[in-house]
Amino acid sequence: MCLPVFFTSFTTLAVVALGLKPQPQEPPHLPSLPLIGSLLSLWSPLAPYILFKQLQRKYGHIYSLKMGSHHVVVVNHYKDAKEVLLKKGKTFAGRPRTVTTDILTRDGKDIAFGNFSATWKFHRKIVHGALCMFGESSVSIEKIICAEAKTLCSVLSEAASAGHSLDLSPELTRAVTNVICFLCFNSSYSRGDPEFETMLEYSQGIVDPVAKDSLVDIFPWLQIFPNAGLRLLRKCGSTRDALLQKKYDQHKVDYSDHVQRDLLDALLRAKRSAENNNTAEIRDESVGLSDDHILMTVGDIFGAGVETTTTVLKWAIIYLLHYPQVQRLIQEELDTKVGSGRSPKLSDRGNLPYLEATIREVLRIRPVAPLLIPHVALSDTSLGDFAIRKGSRVIINLWSLHHDENEWKNPELFDPGRFIDSKGTGLILPSSSYLPFGAGIRVCLGEALAKMELFLFLSWILQHFTLSVPPGDELPSLEGKFGVVLQPAKYKVTATPRQGGAINEGETL
Ligand code: HEM
Repeated sequence: MCLPVFFTSFTTLAVVALGLKPQPQEPPHLPSLPLIGSLLSLWSPLAPYILFKQLQRKYGHIYSLKMGSHHVVVVNHYKDAKEVLLKKGKTFAGRPRTVTTDILTRDGKDIAFGNFSATWKFHRKIVHGALCMFGESSVSIEKIICAEAKTLCSVLSEAASAGHSLDLSPELTRAVTNVICFLCFNSSYSRGDPEFETMLEYSQGIVDPVAKDSLVDIFPWLQIFPNAGLRLLRKCGSTRDALLQKKYDQHKVDYSDHVQRDLLDALLRAKRSAENNNTAEIRDESVGLSDDHILMTVGDIFGAGVETTTTVLKWAIIYLLHYPQVQRLIQEELDTKVGSGRSPKLSDRGNLPYLEATIREVLRIRPVAPLLIPHVALSDTSLGDFAIRKGSRVIINLWSLHHDENEWKNPELFDPGRFIDSKGTGLILPSSSYLPFGAGIRVCLGEALAKMELFLFLSWILQHFTLSVPPGDELPSLEGKFGVVLQPAKYKVTATPRQGGAINEGETL
């Protein structure tokens, strides 16, 4: 008997005889080579989330690979994803450090890319509290979203009167940015404001290189070569930081302990009470309340809150253009439940299940973050039957969850009806394989806000207009471009005013 077989049989015998549990094995591994890791197996024209889904056929739901020197585990099934995010949420709550995110976040001093720590927890708590302050129970956030929805409808009206089609992307970005500006700085921008134009410019300059230069993140030593993308990223990062600093300085001047106007005030208050308070708990938490942390946290809310929500709105409109019958059903629902005499409100949400189902379906079929944000195992642990070593980067492939043929009937088909019950009146969740905002300790901080925005912007637009493809144009592509988020290509729409859908100028909420 050769030696390895002897040892295997001996181990099996010992396991059976002594009632020992077998040690979990590491997940199946893609081939890898020194230095380049598994790059050759990943070389593909397919987007990574599609390739990762396909690789399941050969390697199973959980497999691992090497990105440069990093050990990466890819998770493709919802049961394992929930183990990572919920059951072992704390163990998997780390985030990797990368060259590009370090530039943007002053070495992880933000929430989204900050590692699991007391500082991270404390910042999440403050931001969560500040967002709740504007939450569903408060009318102020509803007011600001509706004011933006009204401006959006006016732009569509002007275009319709002039007989123009238009690219809605900058208008949607402005509307969503203004909501975040209101939350963070208690201010907003009108169209054409030069500061807003600067903001749009630097946002694109951040999104593009972060999307392109992931090679530097896999092989950090590539930084020694001239890199135009990284140069642009640094430049746009500094422009962003200068703007944030200006807002921060203004806030410090007019700050009052008695009024909390916005997120910056909430962060300032936490910083001041930490400085003035000597209790052990607050002293411990105060570790992270440097100016850098405050600025990066606000930068994070812009980074995470604008591109994501705008992109979902753009996908929703593309699907409405492809499926005019869905648009008609939403409009019928709006006509019956809201009518044309007033505008939709958040309190209508429960009465408009088909619109809600459509939003859910858009988030399913085109998840903006198809690979979430990578998690990191903070200690040796296990996942399903496999051993996971400390420091492994864990990628949850949301695309696999949302397109799992065993969970979703015809997953490639856009069908909001799958979220409606058999009576046709109530909302359901037909599968547990659905996590558009993640889950657990790292769940999206802006989920409630994003849902309010999606609902109000879409309901206002569809109450007033029918959207269609401009004459002579092709239907926009349903293929996304994978970057920081899964982006649709540019497209234009024609907005035709609906009868009785005039915007009510004097209306207040
Ligand atoms: C439809 C819009 C949005 C979608 C689909 C979305 C989705 C997500 C997802 C999938 C994650 C990663 C979860 C994980 O890594 O496990 C995330 C994280 C995050 N999101 Fe969102 N998001 C949206 C809008 C927003 C908004 C409006 C804000 C801010 C107001 C926001 C703030 C954040 C933050 C701060 C994180 C990092 C959380 C952490 O690491 O602790 N998101 N989001």
